[in-house]
Amino acid sequence: MGIEEEEVVELRDGYVFPFALWGMFVVVVLIYFGTRVSAPFGRHIRRGWGPSMSVREAWIVMQSPALFVLALVYHHGQHHLATVPHVLLRLFQLHYINRCLIYPFRIRSEGKAMPILVCVFFCLFNVLNAYLQARWISHYGTYPTSWLRSPQFVLGVALFFLGLGINIWADSVLLSLRADKHDRSYRIPRGFLFEYVSCPNYLGEIMEWFGWALMTSSFAGLGFFLAVTAILVPRAAVHHQWYLKKFSNYPASRKALIPFLY
Ligand SMILES: NC(=O)c1ccc[n+]([C@@H]2O[C@H](COP(=O)([O-])OP(=O)(O)OC[C@H]3O[C@@H](n4cnc5c(N)ncnc54)[C@H](OP(=O)(O)O)[C@@H]3O)[C@@H](O)[C@H]2O)c1
Repeated sequence: MGIEEEEVVELRDGYVFPFALWGMFVVVVLIYFGTRVSAPFGRHIRRGWGPSMSVREAWIVMQSPALFVLALVYHHGQHHLATVPHVLLRLFQLHYINRCLIYPFRIRSEGKAMPILVCVFFCLFNVLNAYLQARWISHYGTYPTSWLRSPQFVLGVALFFLGLGINIWADSVLLSLRADKHDRSYRIPRGFLFEYVSCPNYLGEIMEWFGWALMTSSFAGLGFFLAVTAILVPRAAVHHQWYLKKFSNYPASRKALIPFLY
């Protein structure tokens, strides 16, 4: 690509990035009001959302932009060879390797479906988010190597790993509640954080992206954290209500998402 062509691409991207960033905050508001209706998958699946596809394929399709779009956009950034952007890239990929390539094969939901509409929504959301995060960390953001010793980074990375650990552990507990892939029943999860909240997997996920927002100290990171929160806080509330209705012996002291508080 010649220098002039590169300048044109840069100029166009100069409009695309702020537009995408504003788009993310608009999406946060839309999700916040939209999730008053619980997303129709898993235990909340219901008729009226059009054709559906297998849950496993849906998870792979909707999460894959977070790996592929991220890698593509990242490598076009002016700082793509720098140390800190590289560390940030690997952390983001760590989460999505699990979510896109490992988690879908652990699901015990044989024959269960997800509306294609939900899959398309999350897929588009992940395209937007992968572009924003990758373009910020490898191109618009400036992170000297000393950033790795900054309080924002150290605290952010600690929260990220703590959240990732909680998320994977809690998902594993939930997935192990079913005897095999044909079992579709629900049971009361127990042990450690499940004694305090119904959805520690969501709590872990929210902690992770709060850590990411700190680590990157960016509007892109903040936008993603707010979007995850707007999706998962109301979902935790409806999961919790569902448990209370379904099981008469559901522990009364358990909260939805935040121990002792909510
Ligand atoms: N970043 C984001 O915006 C975002 C958005 C959504 C989800 N996620 C993450 O994706 C993961 C899965 O989300 P999800 O909403 O599907 O979580 P979920 O409702 O907690 O379900 C997780 C898995 O465990 C099964 N399961 C849950 N509770 C169960 C119970 N009491 N007994 C038996 N099986 C049970 C579910 O089966 P069924 O599917 O059959 O109910 C599903 O396969 C979570 O780690 C979440 O944090 C992230």
